[in-house]
Amino acid sequence: MRNRALGVLLLLLLCACGEREGSVPTLTVSGSAVGAEGEVLSRQIRRFMAENPGLRVTVQRVPDDATQRHQLYVQWLNAHVGTPDVLQLDVVWTPEFAAAGWILPLDRFSPGSSDFFPASLAANTWQGKLYALPWFMDVGMLYWRTDLVAAPPGSLDELTALARRGQAAGPRYGIVWQGARYEGIVTVFLEILGGFGGRILTPSGGVAVDSPQAVAALAYLKGQIASGLAPPEVLTWHEEETRFAFQNGNTVFLRNWPYAWALLGKPGESKVAGRFAIAPMPAAPGGEPTAALGGAQLAINAYSRHPEAAFRLISYLIAPERMLERARVVGQYPARRSVYRDPRLGEALGADPAAILAIVEQARARPVTPVWTELSEILQIHLHRALAGQTGTAAALKEARREMEAVLERSGLAPEENP
Ligand code: GLC
Repeated sequence: MRNRALGVLLLLLLCACGEREGSVPTLTVSGSAVGAEGEVLSRQIRRFMAENPGLRVTVQRVPDDATQRHQLYVQWLNAHVGTPDVLQLDVVWTPEFAAAGWILPLDRFSPGSSDFFPASLAANTWQGKLYALPWFMDVGMLYWRTDLVAAPPGSLDELTALARRGQAAGPRYGIVWQGARYEGIVTVFLEILGGFGGRILTPSGGVAVDSPQAVAALAYLKGQIASGLAPPEVLTWHEEETRFAFQNGNTVFLRNWPYAWALLGKPGESKVAGRFAIAPMPAAPGGEPTAALGGAQLAINAYSRHPEAAFRLISYLIAPERMLERARVVGQYPARRSVYRDPRLGEALGADPAAILAIVEQARARPVTPVWTELSEILQIHLHRALAGQTGTAAALKEARREMEAVLERSGLAPEENP
């Protein structure tokens, strides 16, 4: 009787897990499919399965909107769901997920980390342990129309002037960027903020989002909408909507990540193929050209039933050859420094790897903190309100600072008061 009960229990457990004894374990990896990303990931996974006949891998598509993707992950992980086994994480999520116990520390797998950029390693380390491995690097950049503008702008004022002049020659807009209320708007702001010489947090961890530089930066972005250079629609746009505007020939400038490069260059699909180039986002006097550092990492779901296999898959996906293939197909920048020394990278990206390496190394990271999501959400709300004209710029940033300080205070992360 007891044996029978045990047998039933075992059967139930096996059914609940969705895998029968003796069947090939199935790993799930969450990945985005922006542009050609989905295509290259499926191809690499097919090869991985061919090399690992004992494993099956499926891709779970997740929303492209970084904030929506984060919310979905939080729901799964809060419910201790074991899939996806391998999670594609944004560079700003690792400390939060690690602190919550949602992803596994990787030390037991002894991952080699010396090939990665220090900023990525810092972003993926929590309490001295590495929790995720960098997959590709994102840096914000300015796409510009070479048929409408003679040279990229050397300053933010010049960007305004060139956008206006270019717009007069035909396109509906002068510039577009990601202004919807999600993580993207914070990266856009961070770049203009750096351009004015400001920061989100001071080096000691104090909130600096209402500095005079920050007010000037937000006023600059708001001015682009008010003056008709950027359409009010940008306040609902993410990466892809802005790419489409540029690709359809509707804007002189576009702020976006590297993935857009390959897509914009496709004749037949892009009306601006062969008529655009990239440049760093310029700065105002007193600031410095600033590119936001973004990118994806791979981590293991703490509730995964197959952590060893999950690590094998991660190691495969982040191997130099796979990064090179991603660079060639998607245009994404490798997360390993050694790949920048590979002579094939220049050809894959159609750009000078040394120049790209310099941009990646100088890119500005968002603060590394387990409460980043909360801080960012506050900033998103107030930036968006100011840009939509619901509040003044200075008042919005003052309120953002107050609320961000309260989060830091509550979580014990506020900097010590000066004596
Ligand atoms: C890109 C970046 C990521 C950033 C996001 C914002 O996916 O890689 O770091 O948070 O865009 O939209």
